[in-house]
Amino acid sequence: MLHLPNRPRRNRQNPALRNLIEETKLHAHDFIAPLFVHAKDTSEAIEAMPGCSRFSLDDLVKECGELVALDIQGVILFPAIAEKLKTSCASECCNPDGLIPQAIKAIKAQYPQLLVLTDIALDPYNADGHDGIVSTDKNGNLTILNDDTVATLCKQALCHAQAGADIVAPSDMMDGRIGEIRTALDTQGYQDIAIMAYTAKYASAYYGPFRGALESAPKSGDKKTYQMNPANTSEAFRELALDQAENADILMVKPAGSYLDIIYQYRQQSNLPIAAYQVSGEYLMIEAGSAAGWLDKDKLIEESLLSIKRAGAHIIVSYYAKYMAQILQK
Ligand code: PBG
Repeated sequence: MLHLPNRPRRNRQNPALRNLIEETKLHAHDFIAPLFVHAKDTSEAIEAMPGCSRFSLDDLVKECGELVALDIQGVILFPAIAEKLKTSCASECCNPDGLIPQAIKAIKAQYPQLLVLTDIALDPYNADGHDGIVSTDKNGNLTILNDDTVATLCKQALCHAQAGADIVAPSDMMDGRIGEIRTALDTQGYQDIAIMAYTAKYASAYYGPFRGALESAPKSGDKKTYQMNPANTSEAFRELALDQAENADILMVKPAGSYLDIIYQYRQQSNLPIAAYQVSGEYLMIEAGSAAGWLDKDKLIEESLLSIKRAGAHIIVSYYAKYMAQILQK
């Protein structure tokens, strides 16, 4: 026998002890479910994201009913917009009779207690597929126009607030948009509509499947002039300081799994709730790995979500929200 009074394994020797000392527990309340909606009468499976659908309005409301039954507190909506409605000024994004306002109203009519969040960015509506308004010079070089975009984002946020959204979530990464949207909402009487800022949004390869789902990939160029370089941390803190000063209510880090260090540091540095988005590519890696029979799907989902929470996220946006809530109910 070794003389070994300090034995960490003592605390791991049976399930009861392990349960007793478990620090991080997932709960249905941790999650927001991203949902895709389109203007067609029937739902469609999304080829780029097996297991996810672009919902018709009726099916979207049904799905919300199932989420409510599982004790999920919120959904975030993403629209697949018909190609013919996309323009270079993305004006469909603030159509009060557009797809998102209709979806918000349909959900709120059935489930007023379910939080409805909306994505604030132009890419689903923009002929260019960029999050902002694009200007192209005679040599074909693109500039994403910051201030013009912010003015449109304010109209989009107001349009969603008027339709009944609870939280608007700007994902565009334009400078100054949180403050401008706050002012626009406040001056129109929407001071209680919260802003969940995509504060640290990285220019990530993990968004690929999502862009397939919405057919919203940039027609040319990439998003590196507005989304952040995955190599950088300091920029994340500059953005954090700005979004806090501009009165964001919730700060988000995106993607989640490869940016746990950023989630952790945000949690340490801010008093605001921290959200993290487990994005489409993170989802797809788990789907692909488990479909191939290489990995245990349920365990992998749980571990990936647990890691995000352990790192410091209060809120997890995940395509596995429903699946995880079902596992938790068992
Ligand atoms: C667009 C937006 C994107 C995502 C959420 N909002 C894509 C992008 O920035 O290109 C990605 C979500 C995902 O990959 O699951 N503003």
